[in-house]
Amino acid sequence: MSYQTHSFYNRFAVFYPLVDFFLRPQKARLFHEINRLPDGNLLDIGVGNGAQLHLYEKHHITGIDTSSGMLQIASQRNHNHILLMQMNGEALLFGDRQFDYVVLSHVIAVVDNPERLLEEAFRVLKPNGRLLILNHFTPDNWLKYVDRAFGIISKMVHFKSVFRMHEIPTINRFQLLKEVRFAPLSYFKLLVYQKK
Ligand SMILES: C[S@@+](CC[C@H](N)C(=O)[O-])C[C@H]1O[C@@H](n2cnc3c(N)ncnc32)[C@H](O)[C@@H]1O
Repeated sequence: MSYQTHSFYNRFAVFYPLVDFFLRPQKARLFHEINRLPDGNLLDIGVGNGAQLHLYEKHHITGIDTSSGMLQIASQRNHNHILLMQMNGEALLFGDRQFDYVVLSHVIAVVDNPERLLEEAFRVLKPNGRLLILNHFTPDNWLKYVDRAFGIISKMVHFKSVFRMHEIPTINRFQLLKEVRFAPLSYFKLLVYQKK
């Protein structure tokens, strides 16, 4: 994790509710998926400012984030007493095979090394554990040029506008179970994988 990403999110924490407002419909779909899974141990990596904590209806949840600013706001909203910890998702301090579910909500294109993040998610998941990824993905149509044009600005706000899941080799260690698209021209998708 770079110091720049960490300090960006510390400063950005108070403004994040503005971004989160636009993400609500997708998150409703993500949590529909999460809350119908059998009870289990769930790790939310890059839990952010906790805007989604109230959407968890079940499971034993652990939320981690590198940003103390984001976690501070999250702890004020943590009415369901979710375990929140400051930790780098690219170097998790948990043992192998501890979690039934790992959630990456708008985080995989933010971390410095998405490959390392997926390796860690794979390591801490139990056999057949589920990985839920909600993110923007660069489409193969003309919209990819918009993503490319946005590349420089996106670096300034610490995310990768050009992002394709199949370019991260570790994803091949998971089996894709479900792909939810939000609209024909939407960049966003919810992907549900199972550890092979
Ligand atoms: C765009 S926000 C997403 C927050 C929340 N998951 C959501 O869906 O609203 C990305 C979050 O990932 C965190 N983050 C960035 N790099 C990280 C890393 N290596 N490990 C854990 N969290 C990280 C940031 O601090 C920030 O809170």
